[in-house]
Amino acid sequence: MENWWKSAVVYQVYIRSFADGNGDGIGDLPGLREKLPYLSSLGIDAIWITPWYTSPMVDAGYDVADFRDIDPSYGTLHDAEALIRDAHALGIKVIIDIVPNHTSSEHRWFHAALRDEANAKQRYIFRDGQGTDGSSPPNDWTSAFGGPAWTRLPNGEWYLHMFAPEQPDLNWENPEVRAEFEDILAFWFARGIDGFRIDVAHGLVKHPELPDAGPRPEDWRTQPHPARDQDGVHDIYRTWRKVAETFTPERIFVAEAVVPTNERLARYLRPDELHTAFQFDFTRAPWRANSLRDVIDDAVSQAATVGAPATWVLSSHDIPRPVTRYARSQPEFDVQPEWDRARWSAEEPDLELGKRRARAAALLQLALPGTAYIYQGDELGLDEVESLPPEVRNDPTWAQSGYTDVGRDGCRVPLPWSGTSPPFGFSPEASHADPWLPQPEHWESRTVLDQQNDNASFVWLYRSAIHLRTALFPAETELEWLGFAGQVLAFQRGDSQCWVNLGDEPVDLPAGWDVVLESSRTHGDSLPSDTAVWMTRSPF
Ligand code: NOJ
Ligand code: CA
Repeated sequence: MENWWKSAVVYQVYIRSFADGNGDGIGDLPGLREKLPYLSSLGIDAIWITPWYTSPMVDAGYDVADFRDIDPSYGTLHDAEALIRDAHALGIKVIIDIVPNHTSSEHRWFHAALRDEANAKQRYIFRDGQGTDGSSPPNDWTSAFGGPAWTRLPNGEWYLHMFAPEQPDLNWENPEVRAEFEDILAFWFARGIDGFRIDVAHGLVKHPELPDAGPRPEDWRTQPHPARDQDGVHDIYRTWRKVAETFTPERIFVAEAVVPTNERLARYLRPDELHTAFQFDFTRAPWRANSLRDVIDDAVSQAATVGAPATWVLSSHDIPRPVTRYARSQPEFDVQPEWDRARWSAEEPDLELGKRRARAAALLQLALPGTAYIYQGDELGLDEVESLPPEVRNDPTWAQSGYTDVGRDGCRVPLPWSGTSPPFGFSPEASHADPWLPQPEHWESRTVLDQQNDNASFVWLYRSAIHLRTALFPAETELEWLGFAGQVLAFQRGDSQCWVNLGDEPVDLPAGWDVVLESSRTHGDSLPSDTAVWMTRSPF
């Protein structure tokens, strides 16, 4: 289908935690292949698989040592090809991650740089330090995970890493780097993948003088920075678009570009650049009608300026689970400057409330025009695992922040598939392997098997919504607000309406409309608090 990506439901597979086929406690490609019928039953259009490349796994695979092979813990190139084939046979498109901002420090290029082979250092960003003995970093940039963005080698030189020290940033001024990635894109396109999610798409080009950035504000991710959103990055994507266009059927790109505004984001989506990009404000918005409404309007109108679809992200492997985000008091500000895990830990979560709101948020998300991204496990109503003991924490953020930010492990815990105790069917029964992160006992009630035939479950809601979405809200229909103020979001698309009550009091539903899908039980003509409904006109 042409333009499938403009209205697709994309399911994010965090491969390490999806399903373990060989019984070592780590998710893998055989495990994912086995569960494709489940994904197909949900009715999704595409999967996006987080990095599957050879990697020392310092940053869960976002530290790539070989972009043309599969990590042995996930399987083989043959498994990847079989997965693509199987997914296509079920009508599911396959998007994979490409990580062009940095490599692993175990990549052969970085090894060559450390050996000081001819021209090897020019593939990365090496500089002398400041001060008479060069012992201060070349500038004041900080890593996204905490601490300085520079590491000094024994020979006194510094290299740049905007993430972990094991993720040296590539030098995109070097034509060899550009040529290498064009070749990597073609390598995977030729194997049948339908698109790439571009990691850190905003970061490849740095300001040529590497100037100081100044002190890091709380909302640093969306503030201008000399290492982010530089105009020169667009040339790269114009070239990538040309590579994609040499393949049929259509191959697409989705950018993870974290930039100050949707207006800046739209620049990545000009007709000769990328197809689509995550709009993260939806996930950053508190559970407040006015905030969400502003976020929705801005996302839709800015995407429209370049003819791109709006994109709706409720969570990912980098963001606390919605059930837990919505289980605590909601911040006053419209868009949260940070996915601030530390701030929340002081307040006991009300998970029942969080689940209720997350169900309503799912119906809102899936009724909006554009592409919807579902992070694995959200369709099971999983909560953030906040109780992980420090010794099992894996995310480099934990150590690099000086043990102040617990990091992202809490949303990366392996999925519960079946059974009444860990590993909940994540690994084959006979294996006795512990999942790579421990699952909480209370997930007993959240397994796929337990939910599949229960019409009050999360899975049932997601599956129903995904199956009804296109019939009720056809791709090309625009959103019209129904003129409500207060804590209600109500809009019509085509002949259907979506209503969400974010307030404390029930509100009346209009006469002449029938509820087709509800996130929680509605009573007659009234919409209870923290509930969403989809409605069609009553027959007369
Ligand atoms: C964004 C990815 O989503 C995140 O998981 C990763 O740590 C960074 N990019 C660095 O690659
Ligand atoms: Ca495994």
